[in-house]
Amino acid sequence: MAPSTHGNLVLLTGAGISAESGLRTFRDADGLWENHRVEEVATPEAFRRDPALVYRFYNERRRSLATVQPNAAHRALARLERAWQGPFLLVTQNVDDLHDRAGSRQLLHMHGELLKGRCLACGAVQAWPGDMDQDSRCPTCQRAPVRPHIVWFGELPLDMDRIYDAVERCDVFVAIGTSGHVYPAAGLVQAVAPGTRTLELNLEPSLVASAFGEARTGRATDLVPAFVDELLGG
Ligand code: APR
Repeated sequence: MAPSTHGNLVLLTGAGISAESGLRTFRDADGLWENHRVEEVATPEAFRRDPALVYRFYNERRRSLATVQPNAAHRALARLERAWQGPFLLVTQNVDDLHDRAGSRQLLHMHGELLKGRCLACGAVQAWPGDMDQDSRCPTCQRAPVRPHIVWFGELPLDMDRIYDAVERCDVFVAIGTSGHVYPAAGLVQAVAPGTRTLELNLEPSLVASAFGEARTGRATDLVPAFVDELLGG
């Protein structure tokens, strides 16, 4: 059953939605994890062992944001949010700012944000547009270095209470551009109530595609605007 624009809508996005903007995904050919070992750059242990390497990895990724723009899929989700009259939540695993720049506001970055830093002493999170290193001091307490505001492997994703609460109440759950390798994001589709419409939009069936009621394959810039038109027109 197609819901009206008053239904309760939750969308989950992953690296695939930013791929056509020019940002590499993690697990596709030439993905970030093909060129880097996760445990060397994306774990608390890596940061303790070789902070300079970890700062450098995230500095490069932060700089790359200046070279990319939101694409038609990001824009379509911002349009959907503006037109939607019921509860709406966009949950992204992406640490880029392309949803923000496209105009999405009901947005949670469950794996953190490249453009923010977190103080290692007081925990304050603040905007951090430039490079970061061991000498970068927290602007709030001036006591300690900052780390990238990124959820590393072995750490708890952010805002999970709000996310589960929204997922458990939603009428429609849509996952876009995510491979289904990383939990808890990959398991959110299992948390919906019986009867919820679930839909996957991805270049290829994800690892958890069979948990969705419907799976469409193709490029995000084709599938997402078409799906948004369908939802708003229906
Ligand atoms: N359109 C739609 N889907 C695409 C496109 C595209 N143009 N290009 C690639 N994809 C799909 C791929 O087929 C793949 O299934 O996007 C998915 C990207 O998967 P991953 O690289 O595993 O990215 P993601 O699922 O977001 O990873 C989850 O893993 O290491 C981490 O913390 C990191 O948030 C990330 C998490």
